[in-house]
Amino acid sequence: MREYPSSRIDFRSDTVTQPTSAMREAMHQAPVGDDVLGDDPTVIALQDRVAALFGKEAGLFVASGTMSNAIALRTHTVPGDEIVCDKTAHIYRYEGGGYAALCGASIALVDGVSGLMTPEQVRSAVRKAEGSGSHYPNGSLVCVENTSNLGGGSCYDQETFDEIARVAKTLGCSTHIDGARIFNASIATGVDVARMCEHYDSVSICFSKGLGAPVGSVLVGSAAFIAKAHRWRKMFGGGWRQAGMLASACLYALDHHVERMSEDHERARRIATMLNDLPMFTVDLNTVQTNMIYAQTVEPAAKVVEQYAANGIDMFDLSEHRLRVVVHLHITEEDVQRFTEVSQRLFG
Ligand SMILES: Cc1ncc(COP(=O)(O)O)c(C=O)c1O
Repeated sequence: MREYPSSRIDFRSDTVTQPTSAMREAMHQAPVGDDVLGDDPTVIALQDRVAALFGKEAGLFVASGTMSNAIALRTHTVPGDEIVCDKTAHIYRYEGGGYAALCGASIALVDGVSGLMTPEQVRSAVRKAEGSGSHYPNGSLVCVENTSNLGGGSCYDQETFDEIARVAKTLGCSTHIDGARIFNASIATGVDVARMCEHYDSVSICFSKGLGAPVGSVLVGSAAFIAKAHRWRKMFGGGWRQAGMLASACLYALDHHVERMSEDHERARRIATMLNDLPMFTVDLNTVQTNMIYAQTVEPAAKVVEQYAANGIDMFDLSEHRLRVVVHLHITEEDVQRFTEVSQRLFG
């Protein structure tokens, strides 16, 4: 489905998705109020629905995934604390060092595989202030990312996911999921999101990625956690007024854009196999579990990306010999065919 005027195929990210006309119509019709005063009915409906869907007591609608993570980290920690996450985690790599600037926390990085940590790695990464003669920071939060973006869209198996939460709890740590693409993980593993997140304290869910809403994330957790998070949202300047217009796009996405993500996954798998069959690329097919393909290139990735761009196809090079292709709502079957033809002509 491509509802905006472009002859280019945009594989750069699932964040490029634009609201469809039906979604725009839903936004147009949305009843709104002043969310800072707590009376926007559409925001309330979204928060309640997402909280129920994830088996949590309450939800908070915020402007972005970064804001949702920042509020969660700040709510879970105090200055001098330490957060454990994988070395590729978005909260560490791409959120402006918010954990340091906004939380006064340090990060203990885990050397996971494809962005996924093991319970043992988490156990050995948690350092507690108590009993360290005041040498250590206080490891108080474990943050997992599912799916893992830099891990290539990989997802945790449920047993490992549960065990990480159990280990964290045993060590007196809170747990947060960066679930920017958690519905992709749920579709790929067949585990429903409430079960997936059962043992975690908070989850950040993005609507402006594969789900196709223009703006917005919802943070869910216990009522007490969300009450604290609400204050941090205010202090971060994230209190907003007639946000129901945006919330209605997210409600629309829940109704219409979740199940269809299996199509993205199937297309990603075919694209990965197609690229891997060409001498220019190597793709670890085991990591292609959802909507992303990370490919190693023989020639510099920037040059390969340029060649595609000259043929109307956009993607990102991520390092000297690595590029990323992301499949989403607007990538059609014809786009996959055209990408295949261009790839075979350029690199076959
Ligand atoms: C895994 C992950 N978490 C968080 C974010 C942040 O989302 P936003 O760009 O809405 O701030 C992203 C963005 O791509 C992401 O990939």
